[in-house]
Amino acid sequence: MKVEGAVGLVTGGSSGLGMGVARSLLERGGRVAVLDQNLDGAGMLIDQYGDSVSCHQCDVTDTKQVEDSVSAAVEVHGRLDLLVSCAGISVGKRVISRDGEPHSLDHFKKHIDINLVGLFDVVRHVVASMAKNEPSEEGERGLIVNLASIAAFEGQIGQASYGASKAGVIGLTSPLARDLGLLGVRVLSICPGTMDTPMLDTLDQETIDSIVSGNVFPKRLGRPDDVGNLVVHCMENTFLNGETIRLDAGLRLGPG
Ligand SMILES: NC(=O)c1ccc[n+]([C@@H]2O[C@H](COP(=O)([O-])OP(=O)(O)OC[C@H]3O[C@@H](n4cnc5c(N)ncnc54)[C@H](O)[C@@H]3O)[C@@H](O)[C@H]2O)c1
Repeated sequence: MKVEGAVGLVTGGSSGLGMGVARSLLERGGRVAVLDQNLDGAGMLIDQYGDSVSCHQCDVTDTKQVEDSVSAAVEVHGRLDLLVSCAGISVGKRVISRDGEPHSLDHFKKHIDINLVGLFDVVRHVVASMAKNEPSEEGERGLIVNLASIAAFEGQIGQASYGASKAGVIGLTSPLARDLGLLGVRVLSICPGTMDTPMLDTLDQETIDSIVSGNVFPKRLGRPDDVGNLVVHCMENTFLNGETIRLDAGLRLGPG
């Protein structure tokens, strides 16, 4: 799939990695529909890229909002070629708190609802639109790239809810790819390591330094455009499918 002229729907595109992905597409002549519950950051994209960007306020846990926003994006741009699922949350909590309280079930359910159920809800609505796309010469109708995390493999202390939700995203990759291959839609997951985004705002510098020191090379935080560049490669390389790709400078997380 060529980036130039392609239409990508980016959930969580108003901040961090999602905004980095949106910029990478827009800089290369793509068009972007940002779907986010908080559109404050997306104004910058509209200022810079004008009509190539549309913004749709949507909480991915509200299925009516998801249906309406995906329809609105299709109406603005005419079709959707790419979905990049970046909307997500990560809030740490130990299974048993220091004063002996068990982990809140609501906290666990909230991570699953946003990071996994909400992601799947967007996927199913976007795919219904992609199925109507005219196929490329190779038969391709679309690409889905879901953001998981290396915490799905080596979740740290306090990451039970987050790690489980991201493991679910990885678990979706193969069945989605096999199911949607019938339509000519490829499915990939990206597992970022430690990236420089507002999601890290809750971590102090000492913790960030210690995580980055675990990178094999380079010893820096990942940047949103590291993810954007990988999404572009995923678009251009049509032989990539059903795979989960670590993007982490070789980092293997310790217990934390
Ligand atoms: N930053 C990292 O180090 C890192 C590492 C691994 C994986 N990830 C994953 O990458 C993705 C993007 O993370 P980020 O660092 O850019 O975070 P971020 O907090 O900067 O951006 C997340 C975006 O998701 C949106 N969002 C949250 N809940 C939503 C909901 N219910 N409905 C719609 N939008 C919602 C937020 O408004 C925000 O714009 C997440 O899925 C995250 O788990 C991030």
